[in-house]
Formats: sequence, structure tokens, C-alpha cells
Amino acid sequence: MSAPSPRHFLDLWKLEGSELRKILEDAKARKAARAGWPKGKPDADRPADGRTLAMIFQKNSTRTRFSFDAAMRQLGGDVIISNAVDMQLGRGEPIEDTARVLSRMVDAIMIRANSHEDVERLAMWSSVPVINGLSDRGHPCQIVADLMTFEEHRGPVTGKTLAWVGDGNNVCSSFIHAAPKLGFRLNIASPAVFHPDMMDLARAAEQQGLITTGHDPYDAVRGADCVITDTWVSMGDTDHDERVEALEPFQVDGRLMAVANQEALFMHCLPAHRGEEVTDEVMDGPQSVIWDEAENRIHAQKSILAWCFGAI
Ligand code: CP
Ligand code: NVA
Repeated sequence: MSAPSPRHFLDLWKLEGSELRKILEDAKARKAARAGWPKGKPDADRPADGRTLAMIFQKNSTRTRFSFDAAMRQLGGDVIISNAVDMQLGRGEPIEDTARVLSRMVDAIMIRANSHEDVERLAMWSSVPVINGLSDRGHPCQIVADLMTFEEHRGPVTGKTLAWVGDGNNVCSSFIHAAPKLGFRLNIASPAVFHPDMMDLARAAEQQGLITTGHDPYDAVRGADCVITDTWVSMGDTDHDERVEALEPFQVDGRLMAVANQEALFMHCLPAHRGEEVTDEVMDGPQSVIWDEAENRIHAQKSILAWCFGAI
């Protein structure tokens, strides 16, 4: 009899809405249960006791790296972290072989990958859960933290309107994946050349996702409960000048925020480029919840890990 396949966390479109909801509620409960505790103290239930997470980075990271590390400690587990260039992976060892070796040594693997195909191949050959810590096609862990942040401030996201302004990139894709799962509206404004992924949009439409796309940021933001943007030049993008030129009209500034709902939040996964995709006024303004969003990466990662381990 073959072993049951592990619970990978690769893309939100593959997840049932009820599972995503379970992860969000667990993250909120875990955060509340340890309010005021030192950050290194493990949660009472220690759901990762005796477990080790391997983290592989093909790209830079601050939030994902530190939050997964802190998360495993708070879950009572441990981590092994490596940049891919320091591994044999960086010298051409196949990802399939890496998967089989690491599966014998650790209990889960998180990878930040250049190519989404690498994430899929790692998962295909791994006998332990694989987590997508960002690829060129998605950033699902980020969106769990973002939705948690929204709900902390504004209650259930179902029926609310989120506006994405700027590059139709990997983070935008994961919002598209999440929209039909939790029933929020997503208005996207991007330049035609940096349009969101058509496959993601088609899949969301099949799942009755309420998503609009267009090229006018004001149309997208009008009446929105949250305005979200991201860098114009993601890791791995090589067309810097073309991007900056096309994306300049998509800067989130005070004038744009003023057409959203009065209570609208501003979110950005960070790192931000102040003066490019967002102004200081918005980053540091009263509608910005970016630091809660960054903190919630820890709480969200913990519940993603607990889900992968079958603890929730
Ligand atoms: N938002 C995010 O994933 O940040 P890092 O690139 O620092 O991990
Ligand atoms: N879209 C950005 C997100 C960084 C967290 C990138 O892929 O570089």
C-alpha cells in the first residue's frame, strides 16, 4: 500500500475554501492566545514538536525567512535554512533528487523558487509537505497573512471589495486564486502589458470569482474596502525601465486612496519602493496596515504549517 500523499501548500486555487477558512481562524486564535508573550516562547500545544522544516531560497527574503523560522520555533519545531546557491541544487543537482534526499531528513520543505515548475516538481517527488514561499506565479502564504489582516481590522472579507493596483504579478495571482474561495470582489487595474495571468482569471471565472480587470486605477479603487499594491519590478524581472514607464500611472497616492471607501485599508506585502508604487503619505498614513500585515506572516505561517502537519 502506498503512503498517503502529503498535504502540500502550493497554490490557493487548489485549496478548498473551507480549508483556507480553517487556516485563517487558527492563525487568529494562535495570535490571540499568545498576546504579550515573548516571541520565542512556544505555543502551549506545540503542534510541530519534534519536527524540522527545511527552507530553500533561490531568491532573497526577509519576511518569509524570518517568519517561517520564528513560526517553527513557536510551534515547538526546528528549521534548517539554506540558499539554493549553497546547495548542490545550485550546481545542477536535480530538484527531484533534492526532494527525495530532504524528505529523508526533514518533516516539511518550504521553497522560494525562481520558477513555479520547480515548486511543483519538488512537491511531486517529496514525501513530506512542500510549501510555496513565493514563485514567479504565486505567493499564497502572503495572501493568508493579508486576508487575516483585513479581517482583523474590518471583519469577514466575504462580500467585501479589494482593489489591486499595479503589476498583475505573482501576489496578484494569489489574490485571484483566493477571491472565489472566500467570496470577495477583486478589482484589478494594471497596464495592458503587465496584465494578470489569463489562466488564473479563467480558472477564477469557472469558480464564480467576482473579478474585474481594467487599466484605470480610479475605476478599480472606487468604493473598495482595501487598496493593495506591490513593487513594479519583482525579483527576476529584467525589464526595469519598461515597467517603471508603464506602471507610473498606477502609483497609489492620497488622491487615489480618497476615491476608495472612507474606511478603506492600504496593504503592501513589502518590500516597498516609496515614491514608486506608493507614496510615503499612504505607507505611513492612517489607512495603512502594512506592519500588522508583516507581523501576521508569522501567525499565518504557523497555521499553514499546522495544516500541512495535519494538526488542524
Ligand atoms: N513579503 C515578502 O514575502 O517579503 P520577503 O521577500 O522579505 O520574504
Ligand atoms: N512581487 C514581489 C513580491 C516580493 C515579496 C516579487 O516577486 O519580487
